[in-house]
Amino acid sequence: MPDIRALHPHFAAEAVGYDLSEDLDGAAFAALRDAFERHSVLVIRDQDITPAEHVRFSRRLGPLEIHVMRQFTLPDHPEVLRVSNEREEGRPVGLADAGRYWHSDLSYLAEPSLGSGLLARRLPSQGGDTLFASQHLAYDNLPESLRQRLHGLWAEHSYPYRADIQSARSGRPPLSDAQRAAVPPVIHPVVRRHDATGRPALFVNEGFTTRILDLPDAESRELLDILFAVATDDAVTYRHAWRPGDLVLWDNRAVQHLATPYPEGETRIMHRTTVKGSTPLAA
Ligand code: OGA
Ligand code: MN
Repeated sequence: MPDIRALHPHFAAEAVGYDLSEDLDGAAFAALRDAFERHSVLVIRDQDITPAEHVRFSRRLGPLEIHVMRQFTLPDHPEVLRVSNEREEGRPVGLADAGRYWHSDLSYLAEPSLGSGLLARRLPSQGGDTLFASQHLAYDNLPESLRQRLHGLWAEHSYPYRADIQSARSGRPPLSDAQRAAVPPVIHPVVRRHDATGRPALFVNEGFTTRILDLPDAESRELLDILFAVATDDAVTYRHAWRPGDLVLWDNRAVQHLATPYPEGETRIMHRTTVKGSTPLAA
């Protein structure tokens, strides 16, 4: 029997008994979408599916993004981003260092991603867990005075800011001028209201958020550091230890995530689809 079970006291759940190589009927899909919206992270177990099936399922949540680093997408399925350290003819074919910092996918777009679907195809013998932090819980955990202060504040998010750090740190190829021009900085409310559930969530992240508008630099830095600490505290975090065939859907409106390292010399192959979102609502 298909079933949905909690993985953490406050968010994150697993779905067992679903087979996405079949085109799910409306009721089965609705059960998964409800669980995704309610739990923010939904681990759909045991998916032996093709890229086309991964894309077909993901598309039922909404239109899909094609990543700005086109060289790291599957040639036949550009909606699938290769999150992997594989090399072909000596050249990387995937993003090897994706997500080694807390972030919400594509928060640097005017319309950030609604959710992502990451499928584990090949896993290292150890390491490579992914951490998820509930930004609803993080918001709820803030002192009331700080919560009040955040409403009405806006923050800048920038992809080139992060890409430059990653190229300096891990030799990721620098963005071309055209790629840079395609992703100008954007601003979002510091607290957003979830489109489906109405719940408020913190919406700033270490990965892409550069500053809070209308504050002196030092004050902006100080406030961001406080928020990043609360946003990623153990109290709001679920650690996912991957099993082969896990398809993890996470709600970028509600969680941040962080990839952890694994031994060099081992291969980790993940495929990501990314569902388009809409302009964040201020809470
Ligand atoms: C991503 C990402 C984390 C991981 O694909 O968006 O951040 O553990 N990946 O691979
Ligand atoms: Mn990510």
